Amino acid sequence: MTTETEREAIIQHAHFNLFKVNAQDVLIDLLTDSGTGAMSSEQWAAIMRGDESYAGSQSFQRFESVVQDIFGFKHVIPTHQGRAAERILFSVMCKEGSVVPNNTHFDTTRANVEYTGAKALDLVIDEGLDPKSLYPFKGNMDIEKLKDIIEKYGAENIPLCMITITNNSGGGQPVSMENVKNVKAVLSEFDIPLYFDAARFAENAYFIKHREEGYADKTIKEIVREMMSYGDGCTMSAKKDGMANIGGFLCTNDDLTAQHEKDLLILTEGFPTYGGLAGRDLEAVAVGLQEVLDESYLHYRISETRYLGEHLSEIGIPILLPPGGHAVYIDAKALLPHIPPLQYPGQSLSIEMYRVGGIRTVEIGSVMFGKVDAESGIETPSEMELVRLALPRRTHTQSHIDYVIEVMRKIYKSKDELSGYKITKQPTFLRHFTAEFKPV
Ligand code: F0G
Repeated sequence: MTTETEREAIIQHAHFNLFKVNAQDVLIDLLTDSGTGAMSSEQWAAIMRGDESYAGSQSFQRFESVVQDIFGFKHVIPTHQGRAAERILFSVMCKEGSVVPNNTHFDTTRANVEYTGAKALDLVIDEGLDPKSLYPFKGNMDIEKLKDIIEKYGAENIPLCMITITNNSGGGQPVSMENVKNVKAVLSEFDIPLYFDAARFAENAYFIKHREEGYADKTIKEIVREMMSYGDGCTMSAKKDGMANIGGFLCTNDDLTAQHEKDLLILTEGFPTYGGLAGRDLEAVAVGLQEVLDESYLHYRISETRYLGEHLSEIGIPILLPPGGHAVYIDAKALLPHIPPLQYPGQSLSIEMYRVGGIRTVEIGSVMFGKVDAESGIETPSEMELVRLALPRRTHTQSHIDYVIEVMRKIYKSKDELSGYKITKQPTFLRHFTAEFKPV
């Protein structure tokens, strides 16, 4: 526990950047749902039988068979987390001039695509860009936009297409099975492989079960298997729906691609039966992947997010609707219209949430995505100014969430008194992690 006075000193000392605040000074940490969940007794038990053989460990065999059983892909390549899988996939499949469409690329995905000299394009449907739209599958890819870019760039320059489930950068919104089938149909015509960024695959399947016709009687696993059957492979951050603190993998059905990927893996991650992880980590992921398919768990998970979102809406706080799977996103531009985008309304709100309630969140707006022109120094703000409240898995009780709601109620009453911030120091890229601020 910390007091408001203590937190005022802490945040000032951290130069108003929540990434610089120590975890013990945070009461409720909603910075991310990545690797921050609680592992189950079964996962901890499995960790105890980790087989740390360098090659061919039993832990890998168990991990591989679980991944194949759920996802159905031929080759399973372990990596230390999602972005390592991305780096290897795009290094093998892309080159200068390639184009990779996605509903919305997550920031590491975009960065890894661009690092190979390729272009990363976001083709989410228009509803996905409208914070107020209640469309049930706001993560869907726009089929017409996909056809247009294939025509514009040529299928020969599109080595793969990605679909992110759920669409994190678009508010944790799901993708429908129908949309995946339609994307696949277009891609098949041009022989373009489809890969899933499957970080939150089980949450996406839960939304399909409850929102899409024809899936109410199917199990989560059946829905996942069907979705993956339209794909040629996937990348996975097991820190999300893998329910583990660390881990990831890369899957493909293509033998030659798998061979190239394993060669690269050995270069930087490790031998293909551990890929930068300990055998015990593979065990934790194998168990977590089975636990995440439990419908009562998913019911609790999605209800918790919805509960938080609905209560914030009731207070009058504008959020990205409907609440997503893993997080609630507050529209700080709408909540604090008196703070101009380049005085970072999202940063202001997230600092106030820490000051008033010890709650840590992350700004997803102009601090993260604002572009500073290298020559003129002129800054262009981001399209949206959001604050993400990400919920770690199996971590909070309803009273924790109620506490967050109470803090937000208090902030709402004095929101017009909040002021903006200016950046006093920043690195040349990924500035949100280390930038320093001052109140305006
Ligand atoms: N893809 C998506 C959709 C993600 O949300 C993330 C990570 C990654 C890939 C990369 O995985 O972290 O294991 O390397 N998202 C975290 C977040 C960091 O806070 O949303 P990673």
